[in-house]
Amino acid sequence: MEEARERLQRAERVAVLTGAGVSAESGIPTFRGSGGLWEGFRPEELATPEAYARDPEKVWRWYAMRYAQVMQAKPNEAHRLLVELERAKERGFLLVTQNVDGLHARAGNRRLVELHGNITRARCERCGHRQPLPPPDDFTPPPICERCGGRMRPDVVWFGEFLDADHLAQAERAFMTADVALVVGTSAVVEPAASLGRIAKSAGAYLIEVNPEPTPLTPLADLSLRTSASEGLRAVWRQDG
Ligand code: OAD
Repeated sequence: MEEARERLQRAERVAVLTGAGVSAESGIPTFRGSGGLWEGFRPEELATPEAYARDPEKVWRWYAMRYAQVMQAKPNEAHRLLVELERAKERGFLLVTQNVDGLHARAGNRRLVELHGNITRARCERCGHRQPLPPPDDFTPPPICERCGGRMRPDVVWFGEFLDADHLAQAERAFMTADVALVVGTSAVVEPAASLGRIAKSAGAYLIEVNPEPTPLTPLADLSLRTSASEGLRAVWRQDG
């Protein structure tokens, strides 16, 4: 533990990958595991382009429900600690998140890549314009594009779709050049995000994982903290932790 703290303290370049576990303490359910969002139905029923083409109303209802939930949630201590880490490392920091809830941005992280998009925005199917959703109480899906009047879809990446190439390149660069890589609250099974920790490790980074459960990344980690995101981050980053 002491070595991890020292390494993180000294590191000039830090890359962080987060997943749904970071938002669990804000009351947002994870995707996998008991109580997970995917439990009880198959992802391809709702989170694919085919599902949307088949039944856009059903898919929008699910996203509208999650959007309302996200807007009621607040960033938690894990989010706040990652803001402190960014402030300490400045340009040597990048936070890559798989989360679509926007909580890292709301907490104050700016050096941030939202790899899977953001549930609080919609994207026009016709012209590609992005716009924030109206407040949940005023929102009746589907939103209509303010530019061209086209139908809009959730601004997230679905199964079978490609990630934004610039986002992915930025993420890979950060993990390839990191002194310390931190992987927090992800089951590390969805590619290509799942490979970022491995990329960092093979390029010589010190790899820290925080997760109450073991993951495919655990055997590679220099330190694997089997605890919640906030406790784990407090332990390795906060000096009084
Ligand atoms: P998962 O639901 O697959 O994994 C959540 C992880 O968080 C699990 O490994 C849990 O053990 C861990 N966890 C639970 N509570 C925690 C806590 N308090 N602190 C820290 N960790 C905790 O979520 P992701 O790995 O983020 O894709 O899933 C990756 C992608 O799969 C998501 O981005 C989503 C989904 O399909 C899209 O939306 C495109």
